[in-house]
Amino acid sequence: MVKAKDVLVALDRITGGRCVTDPEDIYSGRHKFVIRKSSNVPGKACLETPGLVCGDPEAPVTKLAVTMTLTECNIELAGATGVDAIVAHHPLAEAANTGGVPMRTYLGLYGIAVFELHEAFHGLHPGIAFIHGHQAFHVDIAIGGVPGNILYVGRALKGVNTLGDIIDRLDYFMGLDEEKRMLMAERGERGCDQITETNVATGGRILVGKPANKVSTIIHIFPHTGFSPEHLAQVKSRFPEADTVLASISRVSADHPLAKKAKELGMNFIVGNSHAMEILENGMPLAIALQMLLPDVEVVLFRERITSTPLVMAGTPAIREYARDIAQQYLVNRAATEAEEVKRRAGTVG
Ligand SMILES: [Fe+2]
Ligand SMILES: [Fe+2]
Repeated sequence: MVKAKDVLVALDRITGGRCVTDPEDIYSGRHKFVIRKSSNVPGKACLETPGLVCGDPEAPVTKLAVTMTLTECNIELAGATGVDAIVAHHPLAEAANTGGVPMRTYLGLYGIAVFELHEAFHGLHPGIAFIHGHQAFHVDIAIGGVPGNILYVGRALKGVNTLGDIIDRLDYFMGLDEEKRMLMAERGERGCDQITETNVATGGRILVGKPANKVSTIIHIFPHTGFSPEHLAQVKSRFPEADTVLASISRVSADHPLAKKAKELGMNFIVGNSHAMEILENGMPLAIALQMLLPDVEVVLFRERITSTPLVMAGTPAIREYARDIAQQYLVNRAATEAEEVKRRAGTVG
């Protein structure tokens, strides 16, 4: 019988010993992968603690889900389908990842153990570069002295000769045609052709350059980590042969200073996979590694599919009428209703 503590052993093996295995590690300040995440938004910091976050180490695990970000939908799906362990890539915080309620009581009710494995998983494999069509020969994890400001410089793989080849490769690996068919089917079933969906809306795109432009050396950046136009100029002067800037996970628009800088430097600029694809880039390899190490456990992948629908077409006619009535009677007119109530109590109305 596999237990939650065996899942922790597997995660620790995958990461070469980066997990928290001693509770002391969380507060000692000595564990390299126990990391406080904050951009100084008051009260919203989060502490990453790779490994078992919540649950009994002795609890049996028969079905395990790998997800990117834990949500109430993940927890409900797990509870309804016999999943007794969830490994989330992104770090977990009380209430934020558990539908606004305390983690231990909600997960305890369903008998689910949760694990997290974020920065401790990053950098373990070259897959992100591979999917984008290059092999990194230079990696910097703190460009400009900014921790986490990650840069890859890579050579295009055999068969990847142009910007168009990179876009085609991403579409192929990520199954963009299938995502488009899913969206078309959903639009048809729901009778609304204005529904949009993350995977389709955020496909790879060329911002500077033409599909036929040659690609040989790629500067691969992640704009949300703090990479600036000045950093780009520095990297280009160090690697003058670089002809293409590739942004993935987060992206910028064509009029962003980074794209303008690339144009000024005579480089192509392309946006690759968005963060929405990380479930395939990182989640899938992690899930398969866990399946290999824990063959007696059934491993499944939890994948989000977020859609955007015009309000007038969202939900059933019944729920639209319900929502309109509730909004009208209890929400938008609350101030007036309360003022009337105060007057009523004072005997000045009715
Ligand atoms: Fe990640
Ligand atoms: Fe991520």
